[in-house]
Amino acid sequence: MSRSHLLRKEMGLGPAWQARTGWFEQHPAQLARLQTLASQAEDTHSKEPVVAAAPIITEPFTAEARAAEPTPKHTEPAAAPAMETEHAEIHAEAPLLEWPQLEREVSACQRCRLCETRTQTVFGRGNPQARWMLIGEAPGEQEDKQGQPFVGRAGQLLDNMLAATGLDREQDVYIANVLKCRPPGNRNPAPDEIAACNGYLLQQIRHIQPALIVALGRFAAQTLLETEDSIGRLRGKVHTYQGVPLVVSYHPAYLLRNLPDKAKAWQDLLLARKVYRQSGN
Ligand code: URA
Repeated sequence: MSRSHLLRKEMGLGPAWQARTGWFEQHPAQLARLQTLASQAEDTHSKEPVVAAAPIITEPFTAEARAAEPTPKHTEPAAAPAMETEHAEIHAEAPLLEWPQLEREVSACQRCRLCETRTQTVFGRGNPQARWMLIGEAPGEQEDKQGQPFVGRAGQLLDNMLAATGLDREQDVYIANVLKCRPPGNRNPAPDEIAACNGYLLQQIRHIQPALIVALGRFAAQTLLETEDSIGRLRGKVHTYQGVPLVVSYHPAYLLRNLPDKAKAWQDLLLARKVYRQSGN
């Protein structure tokens, strides 16, 4: 922790948040957050710190409201401050970082040993305003090389399955992983690695505010649902994560090795589509 961070902490001040401009100001999550901050400022009786008030998940915004939003313009994140490298708090109750800052935090992350062996971090891919969010396990070899999730053979299978469900992988979904760095040799994620990375995923979910989450594979399902139950027990049901319906399915890499289970994965996607449609989207 840097000296200035310690000083601010001693003085009871929160972390230094940088104001950013860009398309994200128009994102429903950001607008909702600003609204909450404004109403808190008016509430003179409240002694709670303002930053604690951001809603984790609010009701999905209507299709009309989303259609009226300006097309997101992706601008390159500004360069990190040169003077000192300071990392934001990343845990379940941490204030919501703005998307570009979150991307920077991930790309500079050194929270666990995986930073020593990765080629690069893999933040996510797709539309950050999508209603569907798919969550996988961790980058593999190809993902580590290319910096994008699900670009290898498992990714091709996933894209085909999404297309069969009527979903475009760039427009209709956002895809992220539990871990943002590749475990060497594609070994299973270790519990401390999942714990170190979990805050990033939480922040992504809070931003995206999906109408539906699909957990792909055991690690994603068990991490989000905080259970040790097997995929066999978890799939075929509708769970909720922070108020958002969550459907569990097999990991596409598993399906490549177990072709007969593709039929079950297809059932899972049909269940997900039904839940999504029932949610009024
Ligand atoms: N497997 C995952 O879980 N995620 C990826 O990004 C690639 C393979």
